[in-house]
Amino acid sequence: MTMNNQGRPTSVETSRRAPIAPGTHTPEELSTISGDRGLDHEEAPIFELGHGATGVDLPDVQISGDRLGGVRRKDAIGLPGLSEPEVIRHYVRLSRMNYAIDSGLYPLGSCTMKHNPRLNEKMARLPGFGDLHPLAPQSTTQGALELISQLMNWLTTLTGMPAVAMSPKAGAHGELCGMLAIRAALQARGEHRPRVLVPESAHGTNPATAAFAGFTVDEVPALPNGRVDSEALKAKLGPDVAAIMLTNPNTCGLFEGEIIDIAKAVHDAGAYFYCDGANFNAIAGKVRPGDLGVDAMHINLHKTFSTPHGGGGPGAGPVVLSDRLAAYAPVPLLVADAQGLRLIEDRDDAPDGAKPFGRMCAFHGQMGMFSRALTYMLSHGRDGVRQASEDAVLSANYVLASLKDVMSAPFGDGPCMHEALFDDSFLHDTGVTTLDFAKAMIDEGYHPMTMYFPLVVHGAMLIEPTESESKDSLDRFIHVLHTLATEAKAKRIERFAGAPHLAPRRRLDETAAARKPVLRWKREPLKEAAE
Ligand SMILES: Cc1ncc(COP(=O)(O)O)c(C=O)c1O
Repeated sequence: MTMNNQGRPTSVETSRRAPIAPGTHTPEELSTISGDRGLDHEEAPIFELGHGATGVDLPDVQISGDRLGGVRRKDAIGLPGLSEPEVIRHYVRLSRMNYAIDSGLYPLGSCTMKHNPRLNEKMARLPGFGDLHPLAPQSTTQGALELISQLMNWLTTLTGMPAVAMSPKAGAHGELCGMLAIRAALQARGEHRPRVLVPESAHGTNPATAAFAGFTVDEVPALPNGRVDSEALKAKLGPDVAAIMLTNPNTCGLFEGEIIDIAKAVHDAGAYFYCDGANFNAIAGKVRPGDLGVDAMHINLHKTFSTPHGGGGPGAGPVVLSDRLAAYAPVPLLVADAQGLRLIEDRDDAPDGAKPFGRMCAFHGQMGMFSRALTYMLSHGRDGVRQASEDAVLSANYVLASLKDVMSAPFGDGPCMHEALFDDSFLHDTGVTTLDFAKAMIDEGYHPMTMYFPLVVHGAMLIEPTESESKDSLDRFIHVLHTLATEAKAKRIERFAGAPHLAPRRRLDETAAARKPVLRWKREPLKEAAE
């Protein structure tokens, strides 16, 4: 197979595997006449399919006079001309090249790739929710508003926080919402506090959000035990600090045990405590962040509450707010009055005491995610949500305990929370890198774990199995990783070098693809079609 320098196939021909000379018949190399391999089909971009044909028959147009003047089309429009079965095949074939939580264990750390119960989908597709127009009169959308209200109630109850802003559409968007609420609160206090403290293990969205909201970022070091250095953090507090952004459990999969003490120090210094709640799946139903002193925290509904994500799918990042920040929640605000539930869309209409900082997006947030998340909560119940967290932590500890003898676990002396972190010291001197190891997992039928994050450990491999894997499934996964680690340590590197060998695509130039993305497909002029 040939790649262009952007790391993707240049044409149908070059995207096919190169035929192998007869006689070299390892299963991996066996060439086929079609270029396909059994159920694994090659597929070109849709615009390279169906030249010159059309998928539908339209009657000839009787043009009477040229009423389009200078904007009349000169060439063929160039859309792919495919029949319905060809289009369906195209997308089904592409989808089969992909990996999904519905096809296998997805151990991507910091992502909580858990099973999305089909009941969620059924509820989200109910016409009263799924087909709702955001501009429908509110008297006709009371059921949907009731759904949002119930979800708000679950989120405030689970977190022990008095208010929640529902409209942010992802975790990072929720972070921005929280930081803008903090900025508004500081402005209302008449204080200029430009600095935000962010631990070095933080997810990249935390410093990016702080900077985007107009603050400067000051990094707080981690201790050798993977927790934030609370003494260094306290030493950095001062009258110019607006907030800290801390993740708990943190991105090393560890609980920040000093969090209450940290929250007190932050409040004593007049600053706010933003908690990144992306890892809420480890503590939902067990710990209420409000009790820890948190002022604002986003919840990735698309992780903790199972709604599907990955590959840039839809998300929702509601932000719970403490008494200190509740007044600054953005519009729309959901209120109940004699007429029923009502969305307040305009800041000027906000009830007494409310000072919304603005709005995060058009309309009210991700209705599809709201209905899935509430379905998940109602079908699990509070005890079920708690059980899910306990099982997620148990699964991660099972993985950690089963692999720490062959893979190096930098904080493996104690238990972890919902994800097991390994570094690359077990690969030292083997010729195998974290990347090679992760790519070899693809040949074994697994999506790789999160690699090179968090940055505080070298060559990080972060595994989050979640609660939705059975013990059998975990055992198979552990067996594969154990064997791979043993092979790597024995320097049997063939399966690692250049892996994946068995996937529809080999190793791509990911740096070039990220730095020089080809976002527009351009075709050679289609002479025959234009004539
Ligand atoms: C710890 C942490 N914070 C924030 C985010 C951002 O969430 P989102 O991808 O929904 O914007 C993530 C996402 O992976 C995360 O893991």
